[in-house]
Parts: sequence; C-alpha cells; structure tokens
Amino acid sequence: MTVIAIVSAKGGVGKTTLAANLSVALRGDRHNVLSLDLDPQNALRLHFGISPNYNNGLAVASISKKSWLRTIVQGESGGAILPYGLVNEDQRQAFEKILQDNPGYLLREINKLNLSDDALVLLDVPPGPSVYMKEALLAANVVVVVMLADAASYATLTMMMGLIEKYCSARPSFIDYMYIINQIDRSRELASDIVDVMRAQVSNKAIAVVHQDQAIPEALACCQDVLSYEPQSRGAHDMTETAMLIEQILDNAKG
Ligand SMILES: Nc1ncnc2c1ncn2[C@@H]1O[C@H](COP(=O)(O)OP(=O)(O)OP(=O)(O)O)[C@@H](O)[C@H]1O
Ligand SMILES: [Mg+2]
Repeated sequence: MTVIAIVSAKGGVGKTTLAANLSVALRGDRHNVLSLDLDPQNALRLHFGISPNYNNGLAVASISKKSWLRTIVQGESGGAILPYGLVNEDQRQAFEKILQDNPGYLLREINKLNLSDDALVLLDVPPGPSVYMKEALLAANVVVVVMLADAASYATLTMMMGLIEKYCSARPSFIDYMYIINQIDRSRELASDIVDVMRAQVSNKAIAVVHQDQAIPEALACCQDVLSYEPQSRGAHDMTETAMLIEQILDNAKG
C-alpha cells in the first residue's frame, strides 16, 4: 500500500480537485485507489457524486471509536472514498485532539483497512500547517505539493519544504515529493516564467503542469471526474500525464 499526500501551504490551489481526478487517472489496471478526505470541509465527496445526506466519515467514526472500514463509500465513477464526515464544532475539536494526542494515528487506521499491496491511498489535506498536515506527512510515502504559478504560491514553498524535511525526509518509508503547478494559463507570461524558474531550481524533482481548463469545474458541477466528462480535454490529458509522473516515482522506488 502506498500513501500519497496532496498538500499545499496556500488554500484554494486545487488539491481537492486534483485528489478526485488523479484517483481516476491512477486507477487503471494497476491499482485500487482509495481517496481519503482529511479536510473538515468534507468536500471531496462532492467530486464522487456522494449524496449530500451521507454524513458519515472518518472523523465521526474516530470519535465513536468505530472502524473506518464501514465508512468507505463507492462513488458514481466506481472510485472508493472515505469522507471526513459532517461534524459540529465540538466533534471536530474532539477528532483533532485524538490526532494531536496520538501521533501516527492516521497511518495506523489506514493500515487497519487491510488494503492490497498495490493499493494507493490519496490524501486530501487542508492547507497550511495543522495536525492534519502533520499526520498526512507522517503517513505519506509520496508527497505532492500543489501550487499556482504565482508569486504568493512560490513564496510559501520554503514553509512546505520545512514541513517535509521535519516529518518525511528521515523516514525510511518515505519515497519522494513532487510538484504540481495547477491552473496554468500559458498565455500569461508570469505563469510561464514561474514554471521555468521552478524547473531550473528543482531539477531533481518531478514537476507536473495542469492547465486551467473549464472542463474541470464543469465536470465537478456534473459530479464527475474530468476524464469521464470530457476525455479529450486539456484537463483530462494533464491529469493522465500527472498520474504517469506519480507512477514513475513509484516505479523508481521499486528499483
Ligand atoms: N486546473 C483547473 N482548471 C480550472 N479550474 C480549476 C482547476 N483546478 C482547480 N480549479 C478550481 O479551483 C477552485 C479551487 O479548487 P479546490 O477546491 O480543489 O482547491 P483546494 O486546494 O482543495 O482548496 P482548499 O485549500 O480550500 O481545500 C475550484 O473552483 C476548482 O474547480
Ligand atoms: Mg480542498
């Protein structure tokens, strides 16, 4: 089983969108993919066409000491998702206290799911430092850092690198991290410049580029992934390319 954490220092860069679409792009013949929502926004389920009335999830299960296994649901496109769950403020705090008091809790719960060796677990993580980010980084074999091609995103990278250094780098189970530069608009000079600067600065890391494409939010509005909604779109193409880069990292680790 391989855990892939999708993280960013800044909010609204596209983590949830990427987590949902990459789960489809990565599934194929090779992997079972479980998408796991670690964000109290509980929004990942919307990409899977899960009924808004489905309130169960991992936070709810944890507080009531129930197994996470029973809260996994199948999305409309066939992907499996473990939602965060709908919680009130007291429940959210109770769950965060569990995480705070039990470092490594997330990985232990994932291990209890008895997933197959080839399974991938994609974590959708809330932005910025938090107990969720810490747990996700402690569990991750691969970290995917999402950013926009703008100066604000670029400026937060040092903070993200610090967190990866602290929670991942020394762990033998950690494989590598990579970047996704999302919502690229190539017609804008600054976007192209930032991609070039990133490629020059981190030449030893994989960098995937996902263009701004209306098909991506349109697919969400139809409760679909972009690969099913518009397979010929730029967005679908970019998701497939990004999934291939992730596969490469996994293959390199196997030797
Ligand atoms: N490549 C893209 N092209 C067009 N729109 C996109 C793209 N990626 C994301 N979006 C849109 O950007 C918005 C933010 O995306 P999303 O909610 O996935 O970000 P996030 O990083 O998960 O946010 P948060 O930090 O709040 O969890 C959404 O409206 C989404 O549809
Ligand atoms: Mg999100």
